[in-house]
Amino acid sequence: MRVDTILVLDFGGQYCHLIARRIRENNVYSEIVSNDISSTEIRGWKTKVSVKGLVLSGGPQSVFDPDALKIDTEILGLGLPVLGLCYGHQLIANIAGGSVKPAEKKEFGIAYATIDKPVGVLNDLSSREKVWMSHSDTVYNLPNEYEILAHTENCPVAAFQYKKNSIYGLQWHPEVVHTENGGKMLRNFLFKICQCQPNWTMGNFIEKAVNETKKIVGDGRAIVALSGGIDSSTVTALAAKALGRNLTAVFVDHGFMRETEPEFVQKTFQEYDLNFIAVNAGERFLRKLQDINDPEQKRKVIGEEFVRVFEEEAKKVDAEYLLQGTIYPDRIESGFRRFSDKIKTHHNVAGLPARIDFRKIVEPLRDLYKDEVRKVAQKLELPSEIIERQPFPGPGLAVRIIGVVTQDKLNIVRKADKIVTDEIESAGLKDKLWQYFAILTDTKSTGVKGDARAYGYTVAVRIAESREAMTASFSKIPYEVLEKVSSKITNEIPEVTRVVYDITHKPPATIEWE
Ligand code: XMP
Repeated sequence: MRVDTILVLDFGGQYCHLIARRIRENNVYSEIVSNDISSTEIRGWKTKVSVKGLVLSGGPQSVFDPDALKIDTEILGLGLPVLGLCYGHQLIANIAGGSVKPAEKKEFGIAYATIDKPVGVLNDLSSREKVWMSHSDTVYNLPNEYEILAHTENCPVAAFQYKKNSIYGLQWHPEVVHTENGGKMLRNFLFKICQCQPNWTMGNFIEKAVNETKKIVGDGRAIVALSGGIDSSTVTALAAKALGRNLTAVFVDHGFMRETEPEFVQKTFQEYDLNFIAVNAGERFLRKLQDINDPEQKRKVIGEEFVRVFEEEAKKVDAEYLLQGTIYPDRIESGFRRFSDKIKTHHNVAGLPARIDFRKIVEPLRDLYKDEVRKVAQKLELPSEIIERQPFPGPGLAVRIIGVVTQDKLNIVRKADKIVTDEIESAGLKDKLWQYFAILTDTKSTGVKGDARAYGYTVAVRIAESREAMTASFSKIPYEVLEKVSSKITNEIPEVTRVVYDITHKPPATIEWE
């Protein structure tokens, strides 16, 4: 079965991912593609999935910018429904010969739209709708074949439809929760206009991923890179279903794990019906990182060393394929989106060395968001300790020590991490948080311990709330909990004289410090 799919053309807007995620929440598959995808490329997509419609995302540009991002206009003639949002709305209006100009009054934030005609994408909406706007240009009018469906105080054409074909534009952002009935607008597009079937389910995904893995690996052997996190555990359970005893799970303890983690992973997976190897590689990784300060360099070195260990282990069991738990946001943050900057090298993606001694690297979760991985893990009946675990970066504590990594610093950050974890969990705060951990900064400061001067490390505490890690907020947890964390860290770790709390959202910061 080919899943019904909506392609989201990316014009660099900050909400581009949100559009894809909102569509998937309705059990319709969605992928982000480059804005300049050609009609031929879209036809190519149709051989893999059933493309039912296109969404043109928002973006930071003006259609008048000399280097403004455009589309291959032939895609408007493919007979596929199209929905332009914000920049996408202005772009369609501009291509149609409408009048688009810098707005006399820009609108940022909540606005109220008067729905002049509740049809198509606006079917069943009331005469006044609360919407979220963020635009500098405005569509002032359109040729006769277009019909205005809504306006706001400052925006005469806030929504339109093309009379001859299913082409729609919305100046506002239906994907943002502040647009009160945004979900309904997207559902109108998906189910009424594009006639999608809600056939993107995790059950279907598992079947497809198992078959695909079987097809690639055939009768060969594979190893899977297992760290014990949710992504690699899920890929291990999936691959075990596909390959049975032709699969060996390789758990590399790089020495940058949290307390008791190696024991936990071994105990969990030794009960599964697969081959399991644990490699103790702590010294080897530490040696490789000896003089490395730069975070990107650290990630690359760790990525490379991981692959070398996997190659060695693969040789021992005659495996030609490497499976790993890369997910969609890892690929994007490593620079897969054409117009988004590379933020950091995720160790299992762009951190891979140029020369890899495997026939193929297989990434069955490459198109999933984190919450979708959790659903797959639940369906595969992975233990709840794994499903509910907070994410942990592949390079581990090495990217939570700012500057050069040493064994002493690892011991400090590991102890601090355990204190943060224990205190948050015993305060009953775990469920509302995405991540909570300690960072060992490279700043030393003066303190006083037992009437004597002390000069020691500063530990930072990061506690973040998030839905899918693309954005995050620092958590406003009670001061009493922070106080306990701080006292315990300074009391129990002699090398630490100061604890600070990270009060930065993502963006502008990332969740991890390196
Ligand atoms: P940032 O720091 O980019 O992190 O905001 C987003 C989420 O990804 C996790 N993370 C990683 N996960 N390999 C991974 O598997 C990595 O190299 C990596 N780096 C960051 C991070 O913990 C957060 O949840």
